[in-house]
Amino acid sequence: MDMKLRTCLILSALAGGLLLSGCQALSPSGSRVTREAWGKTKEGTPVQLFTLHNARGAEAKISNYGGLVVSLKMPDRNGKFGDVVLGYDKIDGYLKDTPYFGALIGRYGNRIARGKFTLDGASYTLATNNYPNALHGGVKGFDKVVWEPTIVGRPEGPGLKLQYVSRDGEEGYPGTLTVTAVYILTEDNGLKLEFTATTDKDTILNLTHHSYFNLAGKGDILGHEVMMPADRFTPVDSTLIPTGELKPVDGTPFDFRKSTAIGARINQDDEQLKFGKGYDHNWVFTKAPDQFTLLASVYEPTTGRTLEVLSTEPGLQFYSGNFLDGTITGKGKWTYQFRNGFCMEPQHFPDSPNQPNFPTVVLKPGQVYHNTIVYRFSAK
Ligand code: GLA
Repeated sequence: MDMKLRTCLILSALAGGLLLSGCQALSPSGSRVTREAWGKTKEGTPVQLFTLHNARGAEAKISNYGGLVVSLKMPDRNGKFGDVVLGYDKIDGYLKDTPYFGALIGRYGNRIARGKFTLDGASYTLATNNYPNALHGGVKGFDKVVWEPTIVGRPEGPGLKLQYVSRDGEEGYPGTLTVTAVYILTEDNGLKLEFTATTDKDTILNLTHHSYFNLAGKGDILGHEVMMPADRFTPVDSTLIPTGELKPVDGTPFDFRKSTAIGARINQDDEQLKFGKGYDHNWVFTKAPDQFTLLASVYEPTTGRTLEVLSTEPGLQFYSGNFLDGTITGKGKWTYQFRNGFCMEPQHFPDSPNQPNFPTVVLKPGQVYHNTIVYRFSAK
């Protein structure tokens, strides 16, 4: 990034974006952040939409409502830019019933069995919004709250910082939790998410990101080829709660150690695939705690687009869009049919608060939670 641009981004950050029009003129490379009004929440709070542009022409639109990634434009093998995430054109769709398109998920991404857990001897009850379990932070999770936005400039590229203070008891979780999420559109065509959090009481936390990707920008995702260097996954019961076993993927349709089309085995006669209506499982990565590693690589043959998912998290929920059923019409009048998008959600394992053998999700006062996720795009 050139000096002028870096200065521009820093000035923009300091001025809360006021110098942005000047910045656009100042930045011949094209890397910048712009903001626009994006309507109001159900409660009438105005929200904004931020557009991050990097010098290579990639673009990410992010709202401070729910930390939503509303669109993400990346080049194909011919340099043609296309939106690779599902969602809605306007905020209205997100205010109705959305299956977490592009959302920042918290406090607890994925399921907690029957919405119950104990911590330090006290029992907690959460809303069972995915009967009979709790899912993705509750009725009004982090995907449905308004975050405090600040435009930031980083050496890696233009960014947006979002902050939210979740009060003690919100959605049934203990402790006042202060969460920061920084989104950076890196100059190597990555969307980097850096989550940090602190608490004033022991609590549980599992933040993740829930974009539905379709690297072709149309149709189903069955031809996308997935590689995940994971030897094990967490099998589930019929309500998608892990049984506690870490099962070897060897010899199962869950073995993606060699790149394989999503559709190659998805309809096999397999109890786990039946429970998930396809893939909706957590893969387990053998690595040191907090080690930043590649969790998945996805290739779409018709466009050449490739997505690499990297993270410090020990698990990855790969969800093949099995609950999309043609009832939602999203961006550009695209009706989202069965398996028209897939999610790659780096995370701690589902139901960890009730599974003593899974890595802990407890955050204590004085500790700082860190979680970094990168979705990096290229084409071949
Ligand atoms: C997650 C879950 C899925 C589904 C989607 C939202 O990825 O694992 O089962 O609930 O969210 O529809």
